[in-house]
Amino acid sequence: MFRYLPEQASDFAHKVDYANYVVTDLSVFFTVAIVGTMLYFAIKYRQKAPGVDHETPRIEGNNALEFLWTIIPTLICIWVGYVGYDAFIDQRTVPPNAYEINVVGRKWAWDFEYKTGKKTTGELVVPVDEPVKLVMTSTDVLHSFFIPVMRTKHDVIPGRYTYVWFKPIITGDFQVFCAEYCGNLHSGMLARLKVLPKAEFERWVNDFTEETKLASMRPVDLGKELYVKKQCVTCHTLDGSPRVGPSWNKLFGTTHENPDGTKQLVDENYISDSILTPAKYIVPGFPNAMPSYAEQLSRKDIEGIIAFIKTLDGTQKVDLPAAPKGPAVDMSKMSPAERGKAIFSDTGNLCVTCHSLDGTKLVGPSLKGVYGSKVKLADGSEVTADDAYIKESILQPQAKLVEGYGPLMPNMFQGKLTDENIKDIIEFMKTLK
Ligand code: CUA
Repeated sequence: MFRYLPEQASDFAHKVDYANYVVTDLSVFFTVAIVGTMLYFAIKYRQKAPGVDHETPRIEGNNALEFLWTIIPTLICIWVGYVGYDAFIDQRTVPPNAYEINVVGRKWAWDFEYKTGKKTTGELVVPVDEPVKLVMTSTDVLHSFFIPVMRTKHDVIPGRYTYVWFKPIITGDFQVFCAEYCGNLHSGMLARLKVLPKAEFERWVNDFTEETKLASMRPVDLGKELYVKKQCVTCHTLDGSPRVGPSWNKLFGTTHENPDGTKQLVDENYISDSILTPAKYIVPGFPNAMPSYAEQLSRKDIEGIIAFIKTLDGTQKVDLPAAPKGPAVDMSKMSPAERGKAIFSDTGNLCVTCHSLDGTKLVGPSLKGVYGSKVKLADGSEVTADDAYIKESILQPQAKLVEGYGPLMPNMFQGKLTDENIKDIIEFMKTLK
């Protein structure tokens, strides 16, 4: 009954599932038995004619019954306790030969470092049939590292190391989640777990061609590579148009004005500071939304980015390297509203950066309850948020500005989202009451 858990991909997964199913089955059995008996008696002994009392027989107790309903539940509880304990001990006891990988959680990505010095972001690669121990910490807030198919989940805590371990028993690609709300892009804090055959893993973990390529690049090429790889591209354009953050086009050598009226030249120091401590200089009209990249970029990386920004004088077209692909989502089996949610949540589309689903004001209005409501616009007029309005707001964000919000939404969805995509998003919005 109720066999709902995902594929079992680790050697202790069956024990975790067993404990889970034992508790579920017992709960279902006793709920049905107790509620069923209650209903049966309620009907059997209902008042049949008004004013007529039933005399209840006086019952003095029954030792056999008392004994049975004490001893049976006690034995069941001990058994349930044992089943849970058995699975827990397996989950927390790391075999001494486990392969260790360091994991760092940060807003909003997972970084992995292997013994060979290999580093990845958003992709955890492990060998099959080998125990793997993840030594985890966080640079900012609480996160929770969750791999459903492995049946492991553990909090990741700033200033402290925690661990999980598992032994994969099948190869393949699996989803990793952050399971603890950690801010705006919590839902986008995903990673992919790749379980490879042992020989293939060994080859991968010792393969540094990509790293060597990056190390021997000209600084400006490295900067361009990082612009895409570290997803600066999500918020900063190269063509002068504003997005969540200011464009990098013709940025170097301009002057930044601080709120107190003092001026700051946009030079190497300004860019380096803005990468490491983004709140130091907030460009007027833009939100204080950028996280620090201190843990992710080396001095050499930052110098590369500075070199890249210096070349952006608007005179030449920049050819960007291909963006890394996120985990593939199979949309074919989804309902329109589910597809809309997937499009909304895709970090590449940026919706989640500025629009909440729970009514919280971010850079843009929350999508909760918008569909069908009356929306007050900045020019004082009012519109009904129907299909046409939402479509227009996506394709021409500046056409109808909502009261209290700046013209910050990037004009980038024309050609990026199809009519079909927009219909799906509208269906999704209809579910957000
Ligand atoms: Cu990290 Cu939620």
